[in-house]
Amino acid sequence: MSCRPAIITGVGSYLPDRILTNEDLSEIVDTNDEWIVSHTGISERRIAAEDQASSDLGLIAAQRALDDAGLQPSDLDMILTPTVTSDQVFPSTACMIQDKLGAPNTIAAFDLVSGCTGFVMGLSVAAQFIESGSMNNILVVSAEKLTSVTDWTDRSTCILFGDGAGAAVMSAGEGERGETGLLAYALETYGEHGRLLRIPAGGSRQPITPELVASHDHCIRMEGPELFKLAVRGIPEIAKTVISKAGLTSEDIDWVIMHQANLRIIEAAAKRLHIPEDRVIINVDKYGNTSAASMAIALDEVYSEGKLKSGDNLLLVGFGAGFTLGGAVIRWA
Ligand code: UT7
Repeated sequence: MSCRPAIITGVGSYLPDRILTNEDLSEIVDTNDEWIVSHTGISERRIAAEDQASSDLGLIAAQRALDDAGLQPSDLDMILTPTVTSDQVFPSTACMIQDKLGAPNTIAAFDLVSGCTGFVMGLSVAAQFIESGSMNNILVVSAEKLTSVTDWTDRSTCILFGDGAGAAVMSAGEGERGETGLLAYALETYGEHGRLLRIPAGGSRQPITPELVASHDHCIRMEGPELFKLAVRGIPEIAKTVISKAGLTSEDIDWVIMHQANLRIIEAAAKRLHIPEDRVIINVDKYGNTSAASMAIALDEVYSEGKLKSGDNLLLVGFGAGFTLGGAVIRWA
């Protein structure tokens, strides 16, 4: 059965103004710029204001993406929000963004908790509704205020994360699926590795108590080196899978947008894929790891710089809490 393609018609992002440098962090924990840069590639990250929650960051990115698409909130059929830092446990951040945007009550809005893989997950879900013909315009807005769940006493994690949001509008394109827009996606789940990256307290397993807050169990806990190994192996594998599902080879890929967690992971994966460095988008140095927002922010960056041409093949590939892996190949319309 032939389907219409799901194409990206607008992108936008928002980064808070406040910059936290490695030098600033060295005044909070026992670390230094040399260690952070050599182990992660990160020089600075953005910190949201106290009164800004994830939905506030997402709202600005969403408005920018809608403007770029030339659409109004009333044109939307659905809002998907990949995030691990929802404003509250519930209702979803997507519902808050629907309200703030003034989008119709007749649309669906929900969050996707898929860690840093979230943006790929969101685009893949959105594409199903567009390709099937049941919806025309879907907003995927990834928004994270990771500094609200950062343990500022843990030097192995607090140096990594930053705040930000990125959004894309996905709409129906001309022609057939497979010619343009989302060509292929691959999504994988390894729940057995869930303990490697999590927030232990605040859910139904360990409801919040003063003791859990005192031990910072309401913050991110991570087994960095184990995750590192899974990512370095997993990213090239899922990338190969999705490139092949798209009927392409790595030589056909014009731009690689990888989850921005660690420059060493990005470089190792690009090398294994034999993709030259000048095709790999990197902004982890400026923003750190913004989880579900990272690929969306990087997409907006490469787009805003005017680098994307119609017909370019983009590979989006990420890994994250779950443990999840996700890849998508998009032909820029
Ligand atoms: O979105 C997914 C999010 N997660 C990730 O992407 C994490 C993937 N993992 C990583 O990026 C890396 O594992 C880290 C950057 C987290 C850590 O780098 P590493 O090269 O794996 O370092 P390590 O944890 O093996 O630590 C090496 C040493 C240790 O000291 P000893 O035991 O060798 O004396 C740490 O205590 O570095 C020490 N260390 C630090 N030193 C200065 C750990 N953090 C710091 C720090 N500053 N911030």
